[in-house]
Amino acid sequence: MFWIIAAAKHLCEITRMNKFDIADASLADAGQRRIEWALQEMPVLRGLEERFGRERPLQGLRLSGCLHITTETANLARTLKAAGADIVLCASNPLSTQDDVAAALVKYERIPVYAIRGETTEVYYRHINAVLDHQPVITMDDGADLVSEIHKSRTGLLDGMLGGTEETTTGVIRLRAMAAAGALLFPVIAVNDAMTKHLFDNRYGTGQSTLDGIIRATNVLLAGKTFTVVGYGWCGRGIAMRARGHGAHVVVTEVDPLRALEAVMDGFRVMQLLEAAAESDFIVTATGDKHVVDRAHMEVMKDGCVLANSGHFNVEINIPDLEALATDRHRPRAHVDTYRLADGRRIHLLAEGRLVNLAAAEGHPSTVMDMSFANQVLAVVYLATRKRRLDNAVHPVPSDIDSEVARLKLAAMQIGIDELTAEQVSYLSSWEEGT
Ligand SMILES: NC(=O)c1ccc[n+]([C@@H]2O[C@H](COP(=O)([O-])OP(=O)(O)OC[C@H]3O[C@@H](n4cnc5c(N)ncnc54)[C@H](O)[C@@H]3O)[C@@H](O)[C@H]2O)c1
Repeated sequence: MFWIIAAAKHLCEITRMNKFDIADASLADAGQRRIEWALQEMPVLRGLEERFGRERPLQGLRLSGCLHITTETANLARTLKAAGADIVLCASNPLSTQDDVAAALVKYERIPVYAIRGETTEVYYRHINAVLDHQPVITMDDGADLVSEIHKSRTGLLDGMLGGTEETTTGVIRLRAMAAAGALLFPVIAVNDAMTKHLFDNRYGTGQSTLDGIIRATNVLLAGKTFTVVGYGWCGRGIAMRARGHGAHVVVTEVDPLRALEAVMDGFRVMQLLEAAAESDFIVTATGDKHVVDRAHMEVMKDGCVLANSGHFNVEINIPDLEALATDRHRPRAHVDTYRLADGRRIHLLAEGRLVNLAAAEGHPSTVMDMSFANQVLAVVYLATRKRRLDNAVHPVPSDIDSEVARLKLAAMQIGIDELTAEQVSYLSSWEEGT
């Protein structure tokens, strides 16, 4: 009897593992070496893998993830699998997949992956539906595409859903809009909003990797150039800070007066984009908004202006209008499209307006993804092990999870911090003591 069950299990595993869609299985060894390299900088995730590998809180739980297929995501998937999850993955952007990582996940971790770098929109949605065929009870999104697809065309999955997690600002905005319209039919945890996510990942991760993507794509010196950052949110702050570090003259444009004022006090020039566009050598968007770089701006741009985007979707730069204005387009280097306008000016668009840090570089360094993905793991365990299902709303990551991730990261960095004395605890909770 035992061998029949074992053989059936084995057959199921083979059938399951026959279902994946990746570019090139022969890249697996290279991918595996890079995954191991990234893991060295992910001590919090390693600690969780060890702990949940023993406790197995996700035993048998069906999990579908739509995330950038990078070395860091591979380590997240390994941790979830060690915790017992039955996980499948697809890409959250057609240009961000690292094909060697996809191959390694299939070969070494036996995790079905549906992701091919450069896939068409049609294939992108076919892959999303393939991971939904897995009948997940928990989804992990980076941009809310799984949640959106389930609500739009896979409503049969709604009944079994325990919940989802969301990695990025744009996804959280979409989900809050769904919740406000009463359309969100299962709970989602906004991992992006954890302090140990956006304070570090969005700021330092996007800051460094966006500059990395721009430099790899163009190999242009930033020192002495005028570099405009559109949007001074968590990502924009990081990009502006790192561009200044390269010696660029950094300009910030904003629509929020508080953030604009913060940029002024941080020492940046703040002006309207129409004015900035005329003098910028680089314009980089990080707003989560649509057509922030529009036709009017393109009409006044300098010859040779480089446009890049680090916001989630490829709508921040009005690419259809850039195409309409252009008389000619060619690709002088990988990740650079040069548009020539009727008056002879050239505008260089990087990575087809998609996340430049993931398309032209490797995305965030693993050190920050360690914290973002520790939040993901703990949020999934929280959803899976609760006695009562959460309400159909967008929920914050519980603050004790946030503090725990910060504590674990500091411990891994061997940095000790002080503790409040009993006298200080009493002082801070009283109101009677004064001058
Ligand atoms: N590239 C990456 O790896 C990465 C990582 C994290 C987040 N993101 C994405 O980056 C985007 C920004 O995220 P965030 O966390 O910085 O968001 P945020 O909300 O902190 O900041 C966005 C800022 O853009 C400003 N803004 C909106 N419309 C504008 C306009 N027309 N002109 C100028 N400013 C405008 C807002 O006022 C806000 O200050 C989102 O799409 C997010 O999903 C990308």
